[in-house]
Amino acid sequence: MTHTLQNGSLIPTGSGVIDAEHGGILDLLTAMTAGGPAGLAELTALRHEVAEHFATETVEMAVLAPERRERHEQAHRSYLASIDALIKTAERGDPLTGDDANRLMLWFIVHSNTADTELVEAARRTGDEPLMISMDEWLDSLDEADRDALRS
Ligand SMILES: [Fe+2]
Ligand SMILES: [Fe+2]
Repeated sequence: MTHTLQNGSLIPTGSGVIDAEHGGILDLLTAMTAGGPAGLAELTALRHEVAEHFATETVEMAVLAPERRERHEQAHRSYLASIDALIKTAERGDPLTGDDANRLMLWFIVHSNTADTELVEAARRTGDEPLMISMDEWLDSLDEADRDALRS
């Protein structure tokens, strides 16, 4: 049983869009873990929100090295597969167990706090890359004698 994680354990990544989507998904997961037995409707709603959110992150992943990008995408595919398996179980009439819901919550919080935080940080670093310094502008800032010496 996983009872140690509270909602406050979700750390903001620093991306407004991603954090807003995380908040929406966390609300669904909180209802699943705290409310009565969740079934097909709740799982289907979660699947929809999560798939849309992963699509948002896929766009951001252009900044990642291919190997890290594939690892992140693989984590997303694996989470969606877990939800799909629970949907199949619910379709057979078995409601989600408390352990199932806790595991969905645990994965989501850990993934958001690690892989997603890394993704947002990588995207931020790319935006911060310094501009190319022009050699000519740099030479112009020198004394005339130094400039002539370097240009000759
Ligand atoms: Fe995420
Ligand atoms: Fe992610």
